[in-house]
Amino acid sequence: MSGESTYNPGNGFTKWMDSRLPIMRLAHDSFVDYPTPKNLNYWWTFGGILTFCLVTQIVTGIILAMHYTPHTSMAFNSVEHIMRDVNYGWLMRYIHANGASMFFLAVYIHMFRGMYYGSYKAPREVLWILGVLIYILMMAAGFMGYVLPWGQMSVWGATVITNLFGAIPVVGDSLVTLMWGGFSVDNPTLNRFFSLHYLIPFLIAGVVVLHIWALHVPGNNNPVGISVKGEQDTVPFHPYYTVKDGFALALFMILFSYFIFFAPNVLGHADNYIPANPLVTPAHIVPEWYLLPFYAILRAVPDKLGGVALMFGAIFVMFLLPWLDTSKVRSARYRPLFRQFFILFIIDCLILGYLGAKPAEGVYIVLARVATVYYFAHFLIILPLLGLVEKTKEVPESISASIHPTAPQAAE
Ligand code: HEM
Repeated sequence: MSGESTYNPGNGFTKWMDSRLPIMRLAHDSFVDYPTPKNLNYWWTFGGILTFCLVTQIVTGIILAMHYTPHTSMAFNSVEHIMRDVNYGWLMRYIHANGASMFFLAVYIHMFRGMYYGSYKAPREVLWILGVLIYILMMAAGFMGYVLPWGQMSVWGATVITNLFGAIPVVGDSLVTLMWGGFSVDNPTLNRFFSLHYLIPFLIAGVVVLHIWALHVPGNNNPVGISVKGEQDTVPFHPYYTVKDGFALALFMILFSYFIFFAPNVLGHADNYIPANPLVTPAHIVPEWYLLPFYAILRAVPDKLGGVALMFGAIFVMFLLPWLDTSKVRSARYRPLFRQFFILFIIDCLILGYLGAKPAEGVYIVLARVATVYYFAHFLIILPLLGLVEKTKEVPESISASIHPTAPQAAE
């Protein structure tokens, strides 16, 4: 952790514990007296919100697993049993299903925040890479979770996505057979997915610990994007940010509650209330909203292997972001051109999401191709060039100077 420890064990027990396992010291230095830039805005509250989402998914998931049966002949009915017979089962299921969407909403805001303020740049590259890893694990967990109710979209979604791996040269077919545990999406597939769906959130929790560790070594970035210069630029995490994070979490929970209690199925697909039938293909097979941009990229390419490669490429290019952005200035506040391109990039991602939900034909496919090209151009051409040609605005001396430009500054 950065800085000196300020933990002071108050009684005999905490002193005894501190000399054996200084876990209270770690918690105190990380979440109570952790020096935090004093200018963080509300976009910085989403890390805490994400932690809440992860815990919520794990707790509700464990309760659902107590009543769910991972068998093709019983899975659908066991979910209906949870909805109708289990006390508050409907609530657990709706929290869990909508919780996945809220988790992704929060993670997208968190990631775009990082992109806007250049939080991925040195010395926070490892922090960013761990974040991308978490994101990939989240997508795997979301995809496998959707298969568990064994509705029409579960089975057909699983069929489409697992079949993609068949495009990989040489090992593709064996890999698909291994994933399926047979020769089609069937009971062994459901069991594999249930097992992994239960496992992955705990892996995510482990990577989140590393993520926060990698955050606390260099310390937080901030909206100005310049490093903290001494104590005048920071405040202790508690009470300043515990209160701010708590308030943002309360607002987030209001939105979350709206979905749970007033529109619990609006983010799902009606076809998943039809029991799985391997003999009837749904008219449109679509993944959950948070995977749609990648689905659009996949289908934009006429060649199967090419589509798969681009889809995975669209995710993996994020690992390289710290090195693709060549600008010395972190925050978009001082990068007028980057700001415009950042907005275009968000629009591009939204368009890809829209197109992912449309049939892959006619004008939709043309638009998807243009949007896919732009997506890669943003990372591979625009960002590297922008850093070289952009004329950035003058960056303030310090965080304090950016807040009170006229106030006398503490001595260096
Ligand atoms: C389970 C998912 C995640 C959790 C629980 C989580 C948690 C956190 C927390 C608590 C913080 C500090 C507070 C804040 O800046 O909001 C943080 C910062 C950060 N996270 Fe995450 N995160 C998650 C996913 C991700 C993902 C997917 C990415 C990027 C791909 C990412 C990138 C970052 C970056 C760059 C920072 C540094 C922010 C800064 O100081 O500017 N995180 N994260």
